[in-house]
Amino acid sequence: MAAGAPGRLEGRVSVVTGAGQGMGRASAREMARQGGKVVVADINAETGRETVRLIEDEGAAARFIAVDLRSSASIKALMDESAAHFGGIDVLHANAAVHETDLTAHTSIEELDEGVWDIVHDINLKAVWLCTRHAVPYLKHSKHAAIVNVASTGAHVAYPMAAAYCASKGGVEMLTKASATDLAKFGIRVNCYCPGSIRTPMLDKYLAAAADPAAVEKELRGAHLLERLGEPEEVAKLALFLACDDSSFITGTSCLVDGGALAWRGLSG
Ligand SMILES: NC(=O)c1ccc[n+]([C@@H]2O[C@H](COP(=O)([O-])OP(=O)(O)OC[C@H]3O[C@@H](n4cnc5c(N)ncnc54)[C@H](O)[C@@H]3O)[C@@H](O)[C@H]2O)c1
Repeated sequence: MAAGAPGRLEGRVSVVTGAGQGMGRASAREMARQGGKVVVADINAETGRETVRLIEDEGAAARFIAVDLRSSASIKALMDESAAHFGGIDVLHANAAVHETDLTAHTSIEELDEGVWDIVHDINLKAVWLCTRHAVPYLKHSKHAAIVNVASTGAHVAYPMAAAYCASKGGVEMLTKASATDLAKFGIRVNCYCPGSIRTPMLDKYLAAAADPAAVEKELRGAHLLERLGEPEEVAKLALFLACDDSSFITGTSCLVDGGALAWRGLSG
């Protein structure tokens, strides 16, 4: 941002779920750098407070609010407290999610535990709807309202041992379209994006759960046309674009930020 120029989210309030680490932290910091006031929402108070500290160190305003995305009451309290503290909500960035490998070993679909399926769907899909539901009463009053959900390339193409995750992310894609359809009348835009493999703690856990992490990492890099992992800061630029007025005529869509992974079939010859 040029010195003295207004930021692209100047004065606007963003609620970012899962902002304690990974892409959520990077997006929260990017939004704050663009003049936004950011609510750092996470179940982990230690990492969430660290994100707030990083934002405040750069001179911007942030507040940590603890939330358990498996609880509707906790999500409602998050939105109410965010709006009470900062005077409204302009942007909801529903970023938090869990992967099977956050909860259990790599598991094929016929052996997948029902409890794991439920947790993945509660956090990755149901909570995105509940965040939307409880944020809309505030977003309705914003002249720049935007919801940015996070799906995955796994919403478009499956990969092994991730049935619950891929199914939940497919749901986020459709929920995004349904939300855009219902909320356009309030001037609320709703979009999502699909990252490829991005270097975050979630990816670290996924690799650590593999029999040969180095081989899997090589495979993930090779699945991208750009032949490397993505960085959270690269994804945060897209989150910002979809959150601010630069995307003012875009709603109900899904953007790939995947190093070209879905553009090809991975054939070498
Ligand atoms: N990392 C990747 O390669 C990748 C690829 C495609 C999509 N994604 C998606 O991008 C988003 C961010 O992923 P990441 O890799 O940064 O994840 P991450 O695991 O590094 O961070 C997720 C954050 O969500 C929080 N969280 C988890 N459960 C919660 C709950 N019940 N209540 C509140 N907070 C909770 C965690 O504490 C953590 O801070 C997710 O939606 C993920 O599915 C990630």
